[in-house]
Amino acid sequence: MLSPNSTPNPFRDAADRQRNPEPCVLVIFGATGDLTARKLLPALYNLAHEGHLPTGFAIVGFGRRPKSENEFRAELRTAVAKHARFQPINPAVWDALATGIFYQHGDYTNPADFQRLAQRLRQLDRERGTGGRCLFYLATPPAQFVEITQSLAAVGLNDPDKWLIVEKPFGRNLATARELNRLLTRAFTERQIFRIDHYLGKETVQNILVLRFANEIFEHLWNQKYVDHVQITVAETLGVEARGSYYDQAGALRDMVQNHMMQLLALIAMEPPITLEAEVIRDEKVKLLRAIRPIRAADAAHCTARGQYAAGAVQGQTVPAYLAEPGVNPKSRTETFAAIRLHIENWRWAGVPFYLRHGKRLPKRVAEIAIQFKAPPAVLFAAETNVPLATNTLAIRIQPDEGITIRMNAKVPGAALHIQPVKMEFRYGGSFGARAPDAYERLLHDALLRDATLFIRGDEAERCWEIFDELLATWEDPATPAPEPYEAGTWGPPAADALIRAMGHQWRRP
Ligand code: BG6
Repeated sequence: MLSPNSTPNPFRDAADRQRNPEPCVLVIFGATGDLTARKLLPALYNLAHEGHLPTGFAIVGFGRRPKSENEFRAELRTAVAKHARFQPINPAVWDALATGIFYQHGDYTNPADFQRLAQRLRQLDRERGTGGRCLFYLATPPAQFVEITQSLAAVGLNDPDKWLIVEKPFGRNLATARELNRLLTRAFTERQIFRIDHYLGKETVQNILVLRFANEIFEHLWNQKYVDHVQITVAETLGVEARGSYYDQAGALRDMVQNHMMQLLALIAMEPPITLEAEVIRDEKVKLLRAIRPIRAADAAHCTARGQYAAGAVQGQTVPAYLAEPGVNPKSRTETFAAIRLHIENWRWAGVPFYLRHGKRLPKRVAEIAIQFKAPPAVLFAAETNVPLATNTLAIRIQPDEGITIRMNAKVPGAALHIQPVKMEFRYGGSFGARAPDAYERLLHDALLRDATLFIRGDEAERCWEIFDELLATWEDPATPAPEPYEAGTWGPPAADALIRAMGHQWRRP
């Protein structure tokens, strides 16, 4: 068996990355769901297309709906034809993958169904040489995570050659995340548990560590002496689509901020790890998260802002209010926008505000991290130019138009001294051409290799909740004012502007 630390590491050795995982079976629970069709199978097909799947690889879909194996394969083929990165679908690649796709109808708590699963896995081992190795993917609603892992353990499917991927949401506050960790680790060890956060699978997110630690020019400036503040924005134009009933129980803070955005923050602010091993990188992230001052109930009013979209127009399209979305309680107090000011109480970042902003139905889809540097001393140009100099910004664009931009001041050509900010740009598309692998592709490949670097450790998940635990309780308190409405297609409620203005800053308009 490979231990997580002895497996190839994404940052360590590019040649290693070409290595194929050992033969194994992937069992997907929730196999008839949306995630399997839109993300998992297209990603597996892409991996097959790239030659990254091991020989003998098999997929067993486990679902509660009765369905024949042929029906299951046909549905997956349609999904792959629609969502795969490599188009059109290559029949030879698909056929090779499809011969290893199986379906098993079953109930998550029925011991007999799990006995049948164990039997099938033994049979696949014999036929395909998968050596007892099996990755379980829990693509079900979280309410089923515990019963599935307990059913697996009850039939002995939790030995060290079995490991699992757990989808989000991982709990809904600190207490539930702790409880989930406790129950999962009754059946599987921490090393067998891979908690997924698809933002870590994005190329641009992985590039944060490369930008910081493979270049000499940035790291010296990466601290409170030179950085004025940091803004992390994840803006979406979409509303809640068909997920109203899930979203109404979650809200922007749980859905995006506590997980994806905290990962961005951890990578941008953590100390350099001493090696690139999974545990070492995750230790550094946890250390950073521990240095973040949790938001106390008393701080909620001045450190945070929340909003809920009203009807409006996004990119020319009229859209309904959140309260009119299907599945949403018409009296809902769930936020679809959150802005938060965080402070990191360590030597590097003391006194530097980190602003996080996320919302649905904003004017454009963009995710970026902007490092806003302090102003240079004004002595030299103040007399000549009576406008203050623009400050330097380093903006890392996570999506779309992935790239990095540096804003700096330049002299406008001509006899007079006019200074104007200009941009220096790096674009992934321009420099590297090929479309980057999808996040799920990367993460599934790593999970098959049992490389946990890009997955969330249990203590990390809990710490992210801890930072927001009091805030979540405050927002849920009926005595707290409801989220402020904002018109769809605008940059959120006025309170978000007030939050940042109070510190003498302003939001970027990416
Ligand atoms: C998901 C959230 O985790 O991330 C969605 O549940 C959100 O609400 C999505 O839209 C955003 O992901 P991406 O990759 O499109 O930025």
